[in-house]
Order: sequence, then C-alpha cells, then structure tokens
Amino acid sequence: MHHVTKTQQFTRSSLDQLFELASKLENKADDSLKGKILASLYYEPSTRTRFSFESAMMRLGGNVLTVENARESSSDVKGETLEDTIRVMNCYADIIILRHPEEGAADRAAKVSKIPVINAGDGTGQHPTQALLDLYTIHRELGRTDGVTIAVVGNLKYYRAARSLAYLLGKYKDIHLTLVSAPALRMRDDIKAYLKRHDVTFDETEDMHAAMKTADVVYQTRMQKEWMSPEEFKTLSGKYIITRKLADSMKKGAIIIHPLPRVGEIMPEVDDSPHAVYFKQVGYGHSVRMALLKTILTAKQK
Ligand code: CP
Repeated sequence: MHHVTKTQQFTRSSLDQLFELASKLENKADDSLKGKILASLYYEPSTRTRFSFESAMMRLGGNVLTVENARESSSDVKGETLEDTIRVMNCYADIIILRHPEEGAADRAAKVSKIPVINAGDGTGQHPTQALLDLYTIHRELGRTDGVTIAVVGNLKYYRAARSLAYLLGKYKDIHLTLVSAPALRMRDDIKAYLKRHDVTFDETEDMHAAMKTADVVYQTRMQKEWMSPEEFKTLSGKYIITRKLADSMKKGAIIIHPLPRVGEIMPEVDDSPHAVYFKQVGYGHSVRMALLKTILTAKQK
C-alpha cells in the first residue's frame, strides 16, 4: 500500500495485519521511522487526527512538519493549487497527511505525489483512518469483527467516517447495520448499494431507543454545522441524544463509540457507563495510526 485515500483499498488480510501490528504497538515506542518526516497539511480543523498522527510519528522516532490551518497560513492564500503544494511537499517530507474540505482532494493529491498521501478527511467523502480505528475499537472491545450488529445513529448523510466504515464492514461476515436517522439524513444511496452488493444487511429507522437495545455497537455521530445549511442544522440537531438511561438499556458487553468531537449528542453522565468506550477509542486510534505509518514507510524502504 502506498497512498491511503479510501477504505475500499483494504483487504481483510491487510486489515488483519494492520490490527495485529497495532496491538503490538499499543503503549510502545520504537525508532523504526528515525530520519523520516511526516508533513501534516490541514485545510480544515482537527484535534485527534492531526495530533495522533504527529504523536504516532514521533513515537516511532520520526519528525513532523505541520500546517494546522493551510487555508490561512500556506501559499493557498496566494492561489497555489493543491497539486503544486503537494509537489513542493514531496521535496521536504516522506509522507503527507492531508485534510481538505473538498471530496476527492486526497485522490487529486495522490495523483501528483511520489510520496504516500494519507487522506485525513476529504469533505463529505471519506475519513479512512477514522474508520480503521473505529473497526479496531470494535475488534479490541468485542473480540470479534464478524457477526456484529451496529446501530449508526444521527448524521448518516454527511458523516465521512461512517461512510468509510460502511465500506470496511463489507469485508466482514454476518454484519447487520441499523441506520438510525431522520429521513433527511439517511445514508447515501451509493453506500446502501455497496452494502447490498457485499451482503451486509441493514434496516433504516428513526427509533434510536429500540436500536440501542439490540445493538452490539452504537456508533453515535455529530450534527455537522460545517456541512449543513443553518436551517437543516437547526431542524435536525438534538433529535438523537444518548442519555444514561438509554445507555443502561443496552445489552451487557455492548459498546458506544463516537469518532468525536461530541457536541451534546452523548451526555457527560454516560462517560462512566461500562458501555462508553469513546475515549478509549482515541487511544486505539493512536496505535492504528502508528501501525499504518510503520507499514507504509517501512514497506517503502524495501
Ligand atoms: N475524529 C476526528 O476526525 O476528529 P478531529 O476532527 O479532531 O481530527
């Protein structure tokens, strides 16, 4: 694997290998990427993705160049194209982590880049490494990735990480998705067609209460002001909130995950529930990103 722009690129066997390495790297550090440089190129805000990739690179002995707000502090302001910026970064770094507001931006970057480009979120397109860590969290917490019922709740239309996860789930057996949303925020048709083609069963409902009682995993999402019209945001926000009472209605061993940030859709009273793993998930993300960097950058050396 060279560039990572979408989750369809992964195979079940490459996921198994990645997760095995991630579990070996949990709470560990080494210097396998000493002398390597990661360039963080963020045209959109981020806390977890940027810091975890940068920390992962440092824990593997590498170095980091970072622009946290490329829209204001890179030559994008002067009108430089994304393609030219990528060509330039090829002279300074060994790998580029790109977050950009336009769907397809990571593929455009990959097309002109000799060094690997990792998509850290491209508009409402995909967020592949978030999906990898979501799946790794399921694998670590449930001890399996086949035969899982997942309730994906809230903002299914715009949520790039949920789209990426759906593509990954198509590689596993006996998965059932309960897609919980208002009609206006349903999962897009391209994903539903993919799920059907890959034998992932799903149903669509507005009833979060019923879905939470039967799910092995509740995947909560945020209403994203950045992609919705103000009217859409006002009308659709606040409909799906996980309270402690709802969390307590879940099956024993079932988990609540969320890519974060949360902005009210999981009440703080849920945080000490045995079902709440969303902060642990952040730690799993760090290990997965270490594993991904190590896999890509050591393969390149061969
Ligand atoms: N989950 C996620 O992508 O978070 P950030 O936007 O903080 O990177």
